[in-house]
Amino acid sequence: MPNRSRRSCKSLHVALVYNADAGIIPDTPEDRGSTADLRHMIRDMARVLRSLGHRVTVLPLAHDLFAFQRKLRHLDPDVVFNQYDDVVHGALYEMRFAAMVRMMGFPLTGSPALALGLSRYKHMSASLLHGTGIPIPPCTELLERVGDVDRHEWRFPLIVQPSQEHAGIGLDRDSIVRSKKALRQQVRRIVQTYNQPALVQLFLPGREFNVGIVGGKRARVMPLAEVNYEELPADIPPIMSYAAKWIETSVEYKKTSVICPAAVEPELARQISDIAMRAFRAVRAWGYSRVDIRLDEAGLPRVLEVNCNASLEEGVALARSADKAGISYPQLLQMILSAALEGPPYDVSVSMLL
Ligand SMILES: Nc1ncnc2c1ncn2[C@@H]1O[C@H](COP(=O)(O)OP(=O)(O)O)[C@@H](O)[C@H]1O
Ligand SMILES: [Mg+2]
Repeated sequence: MPNRSRRSCKSLHVALVYNADAGIIPDTPEDRGSTADLRHMIRDMARVLRSLGHRVTVLPLAHDLFAFQRKLRHLDPDVVFNQYDDVVHGALYEMRFAAMVRMMGFPLTGSPALALGLSRYKHMSASLLHGTGIPIPPCTELLERVGDVDRHEWRFPLIVQPSQEHAGIGLDRDSIVRSKKALRQQVRRIVQTYNQPALVQLFLPGREFNVGIVGGKRARVMPLAEVNYEELPADIPPIMSYAAKWIETSVEYKKTSVICPAAVEPELARQISDIAMRAFRAVRAWGYSRVDIRLDEAGLPRVLEVNCNASLEEGVALARSADKAGISYPQLLQMILSAALEGPPYDVSVSMLL
């Protein structure tokens, strides 16, 4: 079994893993989710981790699982920094990757396999949150077939999206529907295009917040960020669609911004932070996360999703929220490493390497 006694050392050997598969997502120059952008981010992260005094080996993983396992075993790192992200529609390898690394006995940054799975199975995580008393959007339903539309009483507007994707995939200008006919069309589109059930929810018209959480046992909430849709033309729905997130040339991208720290009354900020932390704990997330929350008509915060291994791109999203809390980017990565070494509660490490 690998010797893990050096884990507490200041200087760690970090294996930084990312998905090198280009996938089927269009890889156009204006798409900020492209493989080139990912490689760039990984290079930057490696540089920052090295500046902290760690030894870093960047390990791409694509179609060579056995070679990857041999390399990882040979490297015998103190910790695996997990930047493995699915790029193929419907693939749910993030949780499998995390499980594999843990079965090899290596500590892993971010959330464990189950939480990563829950991040992607949106209906399951919503049901779990609901069951724990955490508010989610009303009318949350999973539709496997177009015919399922007739099995429910609907209130409109609804939002329809793939139930097992992330990163705004499958969300566009037609994702909000106001009639049964449009609902049927969207469910058909999702089932046919993404080969998975559709997630349907009541569309919440209120303010939208991204809540960063960082740390292990003593995880804390970062200053809130708010999505600003005010400049968006009225005919484009105010949602973080694929275009708004990734396509630099789109109106959605240009006219949607994120304000951090958000201007929120203290009582509402307390409610949002509390709900986000409860959601983080409920799915057993670990190390870092970004919880998406939106207010309903009555102004009550409801959880859209818990992004377990949220993007760690420097200067934006979680990293920016952390920065507003006085946590620099290198400090953020160090906190994530420390949480990985601390390990999630009840986690038993059983290496299957001889
Ligand atoms: N029930 C909802 N009401 C209002 N907006 C929603 C709802 N569900 C999703 N959205 C919008 O769609 C975006 C993406 O949805 P989300 O569930 O977070 O999926 P993703 O994993 O693709 O980020 C959210 O940031 C929000 O703008
Ligand atoms: Mg989201």
